[in-house]
Amino acid sequence: MPDSLAPAAVEPLLAGRFGRPYLYRTRCTSTQELLGADLPEGAAAVCEEQTAGRGRLGRTWSAPAGTSLLCSLLLRPPPERRAPELALVAGVAAAEAIEQTAGLAVSIKWPNDLLLDGRKAGGILAEARDGAVVLGIGLNVNQTAEELPTDTRLPPASLRVALGSELDRPALLASLLARLEAHYDAWLGLGLAAALPELERRDFLRGRRVRVGGATGVAAGLDALGRLLLDTGDALESGEVELEP
Ligand code: BTN
Repeated sequence: MPDSLAPAAVEPLLAGRFGRPYLYRTRCTSTQELLGADLPEGAAAVCEEQTAGRGRLGRTWSAPAGTSLLCSLLLRPPPERRAPELALVAGVAAAEAIEQTAGLAVSIKWPNDLLLDGRKAGGILAEARDGAVVLGIGLNVNQTAEELPTDTRLPPASLRVALGSELDRPALLASLLARLEAHYDAWLGLGLAAALPELERRDFLRGRRVRVGGATGVAAGLDALGRLLLDTGDALESGEVELEP
């Protein structure tokens, strides 16, 4: 019997202000579409199945009903903060939630991929909306190997496949919302400096030869603005990182 992310299962586990209100649907086009501008910061939208889930750079995001975490969060960062940094901050929060709940080591492939042993188990999509940011997080949780997508750039992973057993999705979601709130608050206070040590510790790309757009080189960490540094001196704002053989 699959678990459910219905409010009755999740709301009792929420301790902070993220996830309030908690909007839940069994099916929707994309949780990114559910958060209206009238809602307060911290509102979360969660569903069991998306019919038009989206990823970065115009890609799609798909998962069988009831297997994964599909969550969007409404944030209103102050104008003096650089909103694109939120995808990095969310990556650290999601990595910590997975480690806390599943005990699995998670690395981050800049800018937004969550990896287990080099395989992608989740991703972050930050979209600007009417002066707010809608932060979408997709985590492959209880998919079997056969249920994972086959058309992905990186080999796919789920927590279930990595762990060998199913995970409690409500507990993972509550941990994710709590870690997001803690890291968001730290970012409001200190900026990206608050997340940089964890980003550095989890950096999948460091030391690997990569290609981003027209630039190639060996990844050499992130700078204070969250840009990817190459040993050539390039500092990249965003883009698709391909690993060079
Ligand atoms: C990526 O890796 O390209 C980002 C994937 C983000 C997927 C999540 S699932 C919840 C939210 N709703 C969407 O349509 N996309 C994000």
